[in-house]
Amino acid sequence: MSEPDGIYEPQVGADEPELDRQLRPQRLSEFVGQEPVKDQLAILLEAARMRRESVEHLLLCGPPGLGKTTLANIVAAEMGVNLRVTSGPALEHQGALASLLTSLGERDILFIDEVHRLQRAVEESLYPAMEEFAFDFVSGKGAGAQTLRLALQRFTVVGATTREGMLSAPLRDRFGATFRLDFYTPEQLLAIVSRSARLLQVAADPEALALIAARSRGTPRIANRLLRRVRDFALVRGGGAVTSRATEAALELLEVDSLGLQDSDRRLLRLICTSFGGGPVGLGTLGAALSEEPHTLEEVVEPYLLQLGLLQRTPRGRMATAGAYRHLGMAPPPHLVAPPPEPPLFPGD
Ligand SMILES: Nc1ncnc2c1ncn2[C@@H]1O[C@H](COP(=O)(O)OP(=O)(O)O)[C@@H](O)[C@H]1O
Ligand SMILES: [Mg+2]
Repeated sequence: MSEPDGIYEPQVGADEPELDRQLRPQRLSEFVGQEPVKDQLAILLEAARMRRESVEHLLLCGPPGLGKTTLANIVAAEMGVNLRVTSGPALEHQGALASLLTSLGERDILFIDEVHRLQRAVEESLYPAMEEFAFDFVSGKGAGAQTLRLALQRFTVVGATTREGMLSAPLRDRFGATFRLDFYTPEQLLAIVSRSARLLQVAADPEALALIAARSRGTPRIANRLLRRVRDFALVRGGGAVTSRATEAALELLEVDSLGLQDSDRRLLRLICTSFGGGPVGLGTLGAALSEEPHTLEEVVEPYLLQLGLLQRTPRGRMATAGAYRHLGMAPPPHLVAPPPEPPLFPGD
């Protein structure tokens, strides 16, 4: 995104930033929160280990920064197998998929990030690979064309997507289990940034860490980035100590507000409230007005605003809620404000 501080960048694929790698939990026991996901995954992995089989194909869904790549790495570590990383857009043709698949050993994990963005032909050759552990080549052209079938090792696809709804039904059907990641609570984020502070050897007050946790849009990646930004700020402006005062000042400088919203969040809400009377307004219109890709708005910006109840998705477009107006310091229009309850007809009723 256009954000200069990079707090928002979705960060997908193999070129993950150093910070993410450094702070990534290695084991399921270190992975904070997402209890239902962890419980189910633990059983699934244990069962596969007991049967000495490959894990079923797994689909991980959720907004950026919630731990999809981390979980894929954890699955490989817990199973003691190799992980190969690719992404939907990186697999440009069937040949690229074939060479990856044939390089996999027994029970290895193939992590496909942004799996909703696979090319049609690549996706179709993934079906027999996932179902029958076979890759079908077509050699020659026209009447003389022949299909050759190549046997693959039994492997596991772990797919990740920010857009579950964009997955085709046949692809979705080939995953044995789907896990949906939710935004984290401030308590869980506090546990995550406390661990990160320890690993990065940042001396930070507990109140400062709690403040970072509360302003991180429910997202571990943002919490870790804010921690690093606050550490820099404290070093340059505050003598090095990460105190709650230094944190407040750094958050103000970064324009992170009391709800943890950033400039791009507020720009979207302000546009709907001021230029479109609160909506409904189509996503494409909003994208054009903000010079932002509609899918970035949908996958990166909107989910947290929906979660906070500041935004609504309706069949006719996006709508701001009364809470959005209030958060921006504006009076909500009358139609968004519920009328006060009728006084009782007979006092004492
Ligand atoms: N549950 C978690 N516990 C601790 N740290 C986490 C957790 N989830 C994510 N993180 C941290 O956030 C960073 C981003 O997570 P990542 O798995 O790359 O997200 P995604 O792939 O969903 O965009 C990781 O490097 C890790 O440091
Ligand atoms: Mg990722």
